[in-house]
Parts: sequence; C-alpha cells; structure tokens
Amino acid sequence: MKFENLCRRGTDFLGTRYPIICGAMSWISDSDLVSAVSNAGGFGVFASAHISGKDLVVQMDEIRKKTNKPFGMNLITISPIFQEQLDSVLEASPSHVVFAGRIPMAKSIEQAKKKGVKVMTFAPNLKAAQKLINDGVDALIIEGHEAGGHVGSVSTLVLLQEILFNIQEVPVFVAGGIATGKITAYLALMGASGIQLGTRFMLSPEANIHEKTKQYFLKSDSKDAIVSFGIDRRLGVVPVRTIKNKGFEEFTKTQIELVQKLEKEEITRKEATDEIEKFWIGALRKAVKEGDLEYGSLMAGNCVGIIHDIKPVQAIIDDLVSETDLELSKIKDRAKKIQ
Ligand SMILES: Cc1cc2nc3c(=O)[nH]c(=O)nc-3n(C[C@H](O)[C@H](O)[C@H](O)COP(=O)(O)O)c2cc1C
Repeated sequence: MKFENLCRRGTDFLGTRYPIICGAMSWISDSDLVSAVSNAGGFGVFASAHISGKDLVVQMDEIRKKTNKPFGMNLITISPIFQEQLDSVLEASPSHVVFAGRIPMAKSIEQAKKKGVKVMTFAPNLKAAQKLINDGVDALIIEGHEAGGHVGSVSTLVLLQEILFNIQEVPVFVAGGIATGKITAYLALMGASGIQLGTRFMLSPEANIHEKTKQYFLKSDSKDAIVSFGIDRRLGVVPVRTIKNKGFEEFTKTQIELVQKLEKEEITRKEATDEIEKFWIGALRKAVKEGDLEYGSLMAGNCVGIIHDIKPVQAIIDDLVSETDLELSKIKDRAKKIQ
C-alpha cells in the first residue's frame, strides 16, 4: 500500500510522479518555486494575481525554461483583469488552469476546455461542487478554514465529509492545514486524489520570501495565524488568515474609511471591493518582498506552528512521501493485528 498507488488518479490527472500540489501563493509562487516543485515530482502552480496577461505569457516561458514537467496557472476570477489574463494564458497552451476566488462562470470553464486545458477549481460546498462538475471541471480542490491566505469558513474536516465522501466523478485534492506525511496517509485512505500545501512550501529556500519573514513564520505558533473579518457586507471581504500584527488592525481602519465613503456615495461598491483586494495584495507584497513584519500581511496557515525548519522543496516532497508511506505501512500492521 503506497501513497503513489493510492492516489494514482491524482498523479494521472496532474501528470506528476507524486500527488502533491504546491498551491499558488500571490507574490511567492514565481517561476523559481513552481519549477522547483514540478522538478521535485510535485505540481507547481503559478500565482497570476496582479500580473497582466502579456507578462503571464513571459512567466510561462520562464517556467518552461526551468522545467519540462507539468505545472498549473492560477487565475483569480474576481481580479479586475481576469478575462485578459485567461485569454492570454490560454493562448500559451498551459496543461492545467486553476480557478480561484469566487467559483468560475460556466463560460470560463468552457473557454479553457475548448483549448484542451484541464480545469481545476476550489469547491466551497457540495452544491457548488456538483454544479462545477456539471459545468465541466476536471478536478476539485477542497480547502479548509485552516489554510493560509483567503479562506472559507468551513474546516477541512467538515469539507472531507461534505464533499470528498460524496464526489466520485472527478479527482478531489485536499488543502488546508497539511504539513506532515502522517496526516497525508489518512487523507489518501479517505479517498483524496492528492494534497495541496501552501505554508509548508513557503518555508523553503526556493520560495523568494524575505528572510526576516521566513524566520518570523518559524517562530510562530498555530494560534498566531488568525482570520480577518469584514465589518460591512457591501465590502465583500473574503476573510484572510495571517499572523496578527499592526497591519491586521490597519485593515479594520481601511474598512471603516471605505464604509464611510460608501455611505457618502463617494465610491461605488465595486470600487470598494477592488480597494479591499488591493489592500491585501499590497500588504502581502510588503511582508513577502520587504520583510515588513509590522504592516505587511503575514499570510500563513495554522500549520505554521508545526513547521520547524526551512527545507529545500525536494526534501519537503521526499520527506512527505516517505512519512506517508511509513504511516501507511503502520496502519496495515495495526489492521492485521486487529483481525
Ligand atoms: C501567502 C499565501 C498566498 C496565497 N495566495 C493564493 C493565491 O493567489 N491563489 C490561490 O488560489 N490560493 C492562494 N493561497 C492558498 C494556497 O494556494 C494553499 O491552498 C493554502 O496555503 C493551503 O493551506 P496551508 O497553507 O494550510 O497549506 C495562498 C496562501 C498563502 C499562505
């Protein structure tokens, strides 16, 4: 009973040796990290967040210079330049796209599939998962509240029961809170086609993150990674999990200012929601590129507290796989004793 065999559906879908995805991380998942993950037998995903369609094509060329293995392009459906990004990326023939943000419109899925591109997307609940399958997605990702970055409100444990256990039509990858091979073994036994990790891969030399920020993450506990909340429905705030700092408090102030402007009709709802997105993208850049621990957005999942080292991507993947296989063999031994 080996991890690779249990998750064959996942590796076949991704075209990789291992069913391990490094989820896209804005400002972090660049050509270095994506190619390192794919070269190590996993599946790297490029974060397109704020990048123009033209520049995304340049980045895809960069990745292809660094690896000949499959990788994905992550596109955020709520980005103001989403359509331009999608059009350009599809012209450059990616093997896979990953839609994030709100669930993608059927026409976006169709557009990608017409080009022969495999489509993955996040499913927040069972109803959405079924709709996405009807709309033609090829695989789903379920990501629990424990995850780093923008999060939904439901935990990984509940999503497993709600979605993983009820979907057979397409491969389902599980994300949110995964940092060890031990838990991966149980997810594989539950029927996951693979796993997606973010926080674990941030703590690698290949992730181009300011050293101060990496060291800060290493010292953080699981409880330090908390979730921001929206103060007014009109702002459309998608909660974000970050390590608490002054920037976190700044976010509440930004929201109050935007609500006041909305009340006075100085801005539209669309402008307000765009400002919220811009806030996070800017604050994340400060943390990742400038090492600003006070005002940067230190996005990380709860599992930051159980990661104690900075490890090369190849070692992260190799250790995950061997720990998973070891746990699977222990489970087999335990089962034999019970019979
Ligand atoms: C700093 C950071 C930025 C992220 N940015 C994105 C993004 O741009 N697009 C996306 O789909 N997911 C994004 N995510 C989510 C990750 O791809 C991944 O699903 C998540 O980190 C998994 O949970 P974990 O951190 O507990 O491993 C981000 C996560 C982090 C920590």
